[in-house]
Amino acid sequence: PPFSGCLLPTPLTALSYNRAHFSSKNFRELTMDKLKIIANGKLNGEITVSGAKNAALPLMCAGLLTSGTLRLKNVPMLADVKTTQKLLQGMGARVMTDNISEFEINGGTVNNTHAPYDLVSTMRASILVLGPTLARFGKAEVSLPGGCAIGSRPVDQHLKGLEAMGAQITIEHGYVKAVAPQGKLQGARVVMDVVTVGGTENLLMAATLAEGVTTLENCAVEPEVVDLAECLVKMGAKISGIGTSTMIVEGVNELHGCEHSVVPDRIEAGTFLCAVAMTGGKVTLRHAAPKTMEAVLDKLTEAGAIITTGDDWITIEMQQRPKAVNIRTAVHPAFPTDMQAQFMAMNVVAEGVSKVTETIFENRFMHVPELNRMGANISVDGHTALLTGVETLSGATVMATDLRASASLVLAGLVASGETIVDRIYHLDRGYEYIEKKLGGVGAKIERIRG
Ligand code: EPZ
Repeated sequence: PPFSGCLLPTPLTALSYNRAHFSSKNFRELTMDKLKIIANGKLNGEITVSGAKNAALPLMCAGLLTSGTLRLKNVPMLADVKTTQKLLQGMGARVMTDNISEFEINGGTVNNTHAPYDLVSTMRASILVLGPTLARFGKAEVSLPGGCAIGSRPVDQHLKGLEAMGAQITIEHGYVKAVAPQGKLQGARVVMDVVTVGGTENLLMAATLAEGVTTLENCAVEPEVVDLAECLVKMGAKISGIGTSTMIVEGVNELHGCEHSVVPDRIEAGTFLCAVAMTGGKVTLRHAAPKTMEAVLDKLTEAGAIITTGDDWITIEMQQRPKAVNIRTAVHPAFPTDMQAQFMAMNVVAEGVSKVTETIFENRFMHVPELNRMGANISVDGHTALLTGVETLSGATVMATDLRASASLVLAGLVASGETIVDRIYHLDRGYEYIEKKLGGVGAKIERIRG
């Protein structure tokens, strides 16, 4: 795996080594690598699902809330996880990892409440240090995350909620500067204008250490939000309404450490299920969480797949060409936006016509022109794409533009005639742990070409 090493303390002195090591060798790999894919028929066998990226990132930031030690298991070794490690270490936290799947984070040594632009700009989720840092230290200075390929990605709801909790916030030179008067946030009633995963997570973490009771309304109920809330309760937080759109948090003076295993990644799992729906075959996913992805499983069944599940496994069997299915993304528990590009890849080779509507982000169809270059028949009208399934795609050199768009190009390559080269796969490495090994393990012909 790209991140080698053992459970070693990585105190600040080692940070320079880590940064040099990561930025020179791995960073070059992350920038230049490509994937070469050749269609190789049905997929058969077993894949182990990793822990969820979108749970691991906020969970790591929760380590800032305590001077105790937060032990996280089932953490995916992804670029964004390593970036978060560097961010927390830069703030003075002690972060140790086995570089396989475990992290120990101790916020007791945090001596810097500044999250710098160079890290925040590479990973928007860095904004999730704002709530915990402000709540624990009474001040925080976090670079505003820019937009990204899929949209402007504002954080106005994060800031509105923190101001409701008493924070004084100014935006100066691209940084959010926040101060809590008398060093403490105050419990408040916050109604978020939009359902925001990150906003809910930031405000939830902030509320755990506020004085008094905070009511958060219109919360996101994604499984990753629930996972964070359950970990916070293990750390001593008092939260009710977990998994509902209204959470009530009774602030406490301090939180302690705990041990928590990251919820399985429902988007990685869904991506592999789409792969089998497209190539045909029979694959079982281990360490999965089927209860967190019912909308996706329902759509695969509608496409003609045979899905069976247990507590922590999912088996998909597909023996014929998929049937096209209409998709409309929405907040959980409806169909997830992070699975839209992958289902578009499936619809591209499915039997029939389908409509895909993206309601969460303003620009999440960048995989369309690349899929059309492979012979797909997709037309876009605003937030809706119309697809007519084709029998075959032709392999091509295509370019990844964002994480899930790159996943959809890999899926298309699995069924395209000839060779497909997916370029700029550093996008892919942000959200998929060893994807070429996992798909290769069930029969895909997929090779990483070092840049
Ligand atoms: C999280 O992003 C995920 N990232 C995204 O996954 C996911 O697509 C998204 O939630 C929606 O499920 C992580 O968890 C690290 P939002 P987040 O705040 O929190 C608007 C992937 O591929 N909004 O729920 O940034 C926003 O513009 C990534 O793994 C505001 O208007 O998403 C968007 O339209 C991509 N104001 C909508 O809400 C705010 O203050 C949902 O955004 C915040 C958000």
